[in-house]
Amino acid sequence: MQRDTNGRREDYEVREHDVLIIGAGGAGLRAAVAAAEHGLSVGIVTKSLLGKAHTVMAEGGMAAALGNVDPDDSWRQHFMDTMRSGKFINNWRMAEIHAKESPDRVYELEQWGALFNRTPEGKISQRPFGGHTYRRLAHVGDRTGLELIRTMQEKVLATDAKVYMETTVTKLFKKDGRVVGALAYTRESGKFVQFKTKAVVMATGGWGRIFKVTSNSWEGTGDGVVLAYDAGAELVDMEMVQFHPTGMVWPPGVRGLLVTEGVRGEGGLLRNSEGKRYMEKYDPEKMELSTRDVVARANYTEVQEGRGSEHGGVFLDITHLGYDGIMKKLPTMHEQFLKLADIDISKEPMEVFPTVHYTMGGIKVDSETCATNVTGLFAAGECAGGLHGANRLGGNSLSDLLVFGRRAGEGASAYVTESTHSAEVEENEILTEIGRVLEPLEKKEGDESPYLMQQELQEAMMEHANLMRTGDSLEEGLGKILALKDRLPNVKVVGTRLFNPGWHTAQDIRYLIQISEIILRTAILRTERRGAQWRLDFDGPDDELGKINFIVKKDEQGEVGIERREIPPMPEHLSQLFDGKVVDMAGGEKRGAESQF
Ligand code: FUM
Repeated sequence: MQRDTNGRREDYEVREHDVLIIGAGGAGLRAAVAAAEHGLSVGIVTKSLLGKAHTVMAEGGMAAALGNVDPDDSWRQHFMDTMRSGKFINNWRMAEIHAKESPDRVYELEQWGALFNRTPEGKISQRPFGGHTYRRLAHVGDRTGLELIRTMQEKVLATDAKVYMETTVTKLFKKDGRVVGALAYTRESGKFVQFKTKAVVMATGGWGRIFKVTSNSWEGTGDGVVLAYDAGAELVDMEMVQFHPTGMVWPPGVRGLLVTEGVRGEGGLLRNSEGKRYMEKYDPEKMELSTRDVVARANYTEVQEGRGSEHGGVFLDITHLGYDGIMKKLPTMHEQFLKLADIDISKEPMEVFPTVHYTMGGIKVDSETCATNVTGLFAAGECAGGLHGANRLGGNSLSDLLVFGRRAGEGASAYVTESTHSAEVEENEILTEIGRVLEPLEKKEGDESPYLMQQELQEAMMEHANLMRTGDSLEEGLGKILALKDRLPNVKVVGTRLFNPGWHTAQDIRYLIQISEIILRTAILRTERRGAQWRLDFDGPDDELGKINFIVKKDEQGEVGIERREIPPMPEHLSQLFDGKVVDMAGGEKRGAESQF
């Protein structure tokens, strides 16, 4: 039994691993395999269950220029599509690595047991997706993410990695400027665990749960990005939040649930209440297969202007595929609509509306190793930023997870192999953190419910940081979030530590508030229209803002510090792909063929 300076007595377990991976989605599992292959001791901590990750919500496929159905495809074209969709504020080196390495990661996944759909010749089949020039998405019907997780899970279980399920990390410990461990508690028993480690790979996914309507399940509260920020890590592009164009709208209990882009990839048509295919107005060239930012705004606009469906959506029609075609390509969608909405999508169109799906921003990493600016801390997957810029292409997340998950595992392993520092942490630091985490349960005073605060926050973000934004509304939203921040010390929950959802929500609310504040502050500063950041009080992209990323770092007063950092110029071998047009990073092709809607 240990005591802190206040006399607190607390017992906690101590576990030690060379590499600690926080998060068990695609990126975390791929990082674990890489580190285990180096013979290192690996611990994987997940606050959920193994196999339950937002990765499964990338249903339609994994983008990789295999050239199986369109032989003209190449990494160069994939790179260009990614940069165009990201409106050129992406980390171009990450986009280059991603485009070059994705095919290897697909084939590797296949070798490890993933069962992809095939072409008649027996090759991995590839389907079209918005913003991809060629048919590029390797897929397993409409459950590709699930197959990825299933395969990676089996691969990880064949290593010596130890998985800690239903275990929530609350703090990273640092010594002499390096990350040396973490504190966590087990959700079932409320017991604490100190993890000693030489390197941490953050792979906790995104933060869609700051919005009311989202495809994310309860896990998407952005824990990792705040843990990293608190430890001194830089964040990038935090204003960029992706609304997927098609989530379910009815019945209310499933509002926001994903309707895969694979439906449009397989020829699904969008129509308004007048029966009109309205995408011709917004992007006549690409129509339903325009990029997500454009299609989401089109769907939103149709409803806003009074051409919506009975339940406030638009219609997505895949009936032309027929029952057999749908069962072959989109069986999950068929089951989802039949069971949840009593709709047979082989006979009737679906009602859909944008839903928050993905966060482009995140922890800033080195493109080669996924190292952050904090020694010993690495990050990969959705919680890392840079690759996708202002708007992610559908299908690029699954390949991102594997390409950069692997690199993060390699980067952490190389660092650990050379590192000689000790992972000891002062006893008092551990007990102080335990005291902080237990406070909402133990305090006598306080009347704030974390559930009600979460609800208020989600409503505020939905109202003020939606897919169309204005400066005044963002400011008003920030006011509401700061008021919630002031109320944080009064959060109190009842019950014990044993599987107490109120207590868990009391931890989450701090993350949700911190991330919302950062998103609103950066969205206020990006005074332009660029990808997911669509300011109604500005009429287009801004040349100067097209040259910078907003970098966020906690300042010495503990407040949100924001720096405008210039994007390094693209090297010639990449810029020449755009015929030299993007040498001017202010936007390059921005006034060209891309839809300006
Ligand atoms: O629509 C989807 O299937 C989602 C894919 C993705 O987010 O990459």
